[in-house]
Amino acid sequence: MARDLKKLISEMTLEEKASLLGGKDFWHTKAVDRLGIPAVMVSDGPHGLRKQNDKADHLGVNESIKAVCFPAGCATAASFDRDLERELGEIIGNECQAEDVAVVLGPAVNIKRSPLCGRNFEYFSEDPVLAGKMSAAYIRGVQSKHVGTSIKHFAMNNQETRRMSISAEADERTIREIYFPAFEIAVKEAQPWTVMCSYNKINGTFSSDNEWLLTKVLRDDWGFEGFVVTDWGAVDDRVQGARAGLDLEMPGDTSLNDAQIVEAVKKGELPEEAVDACVERVLDVIYRFLDNRDETAVFDLKKDHEKAVGLAGRCAVLLQNDGTLPLTADAKVAYIGGFAKKPRFQGGGSSHINSFKVESALESAEKKGRKVTYTEGFLPDDTAVDQKRIDEAVAAAKAADAAVIFAGLPDSIESEGYDRDDMKLPACQDDLIAAVCAAQPHTVVVLHNGSPVECPWADDAAAVLEMYLGGEGVGEATDRLLFGETNPSGHLAETFPLKLSDNPSCLNFPGQMKSVNYAEGVFVGYRYYEKKEMPVRWAFGHGLSYTTFDMTNVKLSTEEMTDDSELTVTVDVKNTGAMAGAEAVQLYVADRNGTPERPVKELKDFAKVFLNPGETKTVEMHLTARDLSYFEERLGDWYAPSGKYELLIGDASDRILLTKEISFTTEKVIPLHVSVDTIMEELLANPKTAPIMKEFLAKGTANMGGEAEEGSAAAEAITSKMNEAMVKYMPLKSLPSFGFMTPDELQKLIAKLNG
Ligand code: BGC
Repeated sequence: MARDLKKLISEMTLEEKASLLGGKDFWHTKAVDRLGIPAVMVSDGPHGLRKQNDKADHLGVNESIKAVCFPAGCATAASFDRDLERELGEIIGNECQAEDVAVVLGPAVNIKRSPLCGRNFEYFSEDPVLAGKMSAAYIRGVQSKHVGTSIKHFAMNNQETRRMSISAEADERTIREIYFPAFEIAVKEAQPWTVMCSYNKINGTFSSDNEWLLTKVLRDDWGFEGFVVTDWGAVDDRVQGARAGLDLEMPGDTSLNDAQIVEAVKKGELPEEAVDACVERVLDVIYRFLDNRDETAVFDLKKDHEKAVGLAGRCAVLLQNDGTLPLTADAKVAYIGGFAKKPRFQGGGSSHINSFKVESALESAEKKGRKVTYTEGFLPDDTAVDQKRIDEAVAAAKAADAAVIFAGLPDSIESEGYDRDDMKLPACQDDLIAAVCAAQPHTVVVLHNGSPVECPWADDAAAVLEMYLGGEGVGEATDRLLFGETNPSGHLAETFPLKLSDNPSCLNFPGQMKSVNYAEGVFVGYRYYEKKEMPVRWAFGHGLSYTTFDMTNVKLSTEEMTDDSELTVTVDVKNTGAMAGAEAVQLYVADRNGTPERPVKELKDFAKVFLNPGETKTVEMHLTARDLSYFEERLGDWYAPSGKYELLIGDASDRILLTKEISFTTEKVIPLHVSVDTIMEELLANPKTAPIMKEFLAKGTANMGGEAEEGSAAAEAITSKMNEAMVKYMPLKSLPSFGFMTPDELQKLIAKLNG
């Protein structure tokens, strides 16, 4: 039976209403005992439950309950597998039901603008569509268990440096195309119960005060129905927040700000209806949880640990392989590096899980009786080069058939709260890898990191396996992957540039004291490297397998699209190798109309497909007009010019296997207000003004660049190209100056053009 929340609200005093708009403590909402409204608990998130029963904090400092640490967002995004994301969500949702947690604080979906962002390990991708679709799947999974999610951090929290004060500065097109869609897709496809607003400012306004962000965009444009909660401590002006659409302030106790809300209503500065609307949204979520409690839910640590191992195996990305992997069961293998014994599997901060069980790759190998030796090589938390340890590692590698180096970033380098200083592995690891590769041709490097690292030794390594921060199951998963019990199928959700300075944000990260300028605009990640034709170490979407795949027979449901049409793309994928495996089919779109400032191509859909040897399956992907479009600020809307678009299908952004061209016709018209400063080019491009201008130009004014005597030296200088350019870039105000019309005639022409 649906609850009558409006009636409940009508029974509340103003003070009771205000009290519901702030937390009681670190993790609970406030109860209203008089009306029988209970408090509910929220917890971090996103890749495991950080439920704190005792001393609470938002940086993962104090103990939380024993839980299972699953692969972090950096890893799960690399699966390109919506089903995996949904499964993870279902597991977390079930754990929340068992632990009486109403909302899990995730997924974290901010775009990886720079590889240096300290929290990239929690985030999904440099690509907004991948981040959006993966987060929607996670949300659907959690919420299928009647537990809420809190997609975060809305928006433009793309760095940790000065995250609580910095203003992220970008134009609307960049914001709408790059930094919003991860949230937009999740809201439209999966309706997260809550959205967490970011600490930072956007173009000078704190997210928690920002009506454009929290109401216009989130609710009016996208149709968000849940409540907005602050990031922990992100409130700026509580009353302005309530006006802007901020519902719940966390953490508590918030009684001082609650009182401000009451006072503002009494003074007529805040309409009580605005408070009522916030209260209704908060109550709606509270009761969605309470009315659907699953009393049978059990948090089975052992079972969930096994699931964590399985998920980690499906996220790993095989970056290169000369055939050394998979290792054979009888190979003598030298395991080198501290992470073999003590894997790095999660990052620091609010997502830090008190992990139930961590088995290292070395323990796994020993349990299975594999012929491995162990040499420390480097200390996981050290950076200084130790030649003695390197020499020991080289000797061990030489004495074996193959070497596996377990490398990665130490905890101290990568965490919430601060950004990395550079993109390098510690020097002791880089030197060791180079030395071992020189001594042993079958050297495999396993990486444990939440974000790209420079790999100067890559050309000399036989294989590189990216495990990311794979959760507590990472050791067991690595063992299975190395020895071919699991076939790697992850693909990079972010580019690995050759070096940090190649990254587009390099000149503007992390910005100045007060602001950071997103000067690269929409050219983030592969959108930049492709446009610049810049070589990278490993491209977005790249990932290898122990088997091979073929893609053929691409079919389109239509080759002519209009504003309202939907297009289905189908492709046959065949496993042409000898081992079962999964392939990530990627669909990119390229504008072929010469539209300025557009990326070479952009990912718009993808599908993951599992295939036995010899098996073929058909995958389906979808496009709408929006997928061909860019955000046209003059229109305040998405726009794709009529013309040709190419669909590119492949298994990496740099491995396109199939292409198809489609045509598109739009009825949208970019509005044009004609003034004396409007140039001919704009008038000729606009369907409304073009005929008028063409008629005008046909009346003998075509030679506006000037005319010179035939055969003269001047005539040679005035080419037809120059003439065309002079016309194209000429503002209307120049027409009287060059004697083509009187000022009066110009005013009449402008009136006609504005029609
Ligand atoms: C983080 C959030 C987190 C919250 C609660 C904040 O510092 O930015 O992601 O959910 O703390 O721990």
